[in-house]
Amino acid sequence: MGDFGSLITLGVIAVLVVVAGILILILQKKSEQKRAHSALDAEQSARTAKLTAAKRAELSKTIKKVQWAKQFAVDAGVIDRDHQILFGRINNFNQSIPAFRTAEQMLPTLESLKKYTQIHFQREERLQRLSEFPFRDDHKEKHDALIKSVEDLIEKAKRANEDNITDIAVEISSVFEKWVTGHVIENDLLMKPYVDRMREHASGMDKLA
Ligand SMILES: [Fe+2]
Repeated sequence: MGDFGSLITLGVIAVLVVVAGILILILQKKSEQKRAHSALDAEQSARTAKLTAAKRAELSKTIKKVQWAKQFAVDAGVIDRDHQILFGRINNFNQSIPAFRTAEQMLPTLESLKKYTQIHFQREERLQRLSEFPFRDDHKEKHDALIKSVEDLIEKAKRANEDNITDIAVEISSVFEKWVTGHVIENDLLMKPYVDRMREHASGMDKLA
């Protein structure tokens, strides 16, 4: 009976050793699979990062520089100076586009552009009122619509993520470029015949920084 008992014990131990061996093999296999998956994941994200960087570089090349030129000259004074600063600020935004990765990085520049534009518009509207510029109501409507479009762009920018932020920033840049040059040419130049009257009221206006 003693021998039989020892045999059973040995049998149980043998079974346990085999089961343990099988378990160890399964675990090893799983860990190998996990390693293989993470290597694949790393390869995939390296490929995506490379593609995204190439796309960013490609998109950034499509950004137009907004260049102030004589054709935009309105008053050889406050308004032109404001416009030149506005053009410069748009170009600063453009230069930052390839570096943007999150909405939080892009939003302060946009908010500050909006603020600058609002102050500049208020100055123009004030000068138009004081000089009795006849198209001032229509001009104010244009300004309000432009501010609304900047607000829409800011809302869009808030939804940007690392994958689409360059596309969104390039789109914003293109809208800015079109509206600022278009508005100056189509609307602001109408102020030209009134600039002498405006000048006396503009003399107290500081340079907008
Ligand atoms: Fe204007």
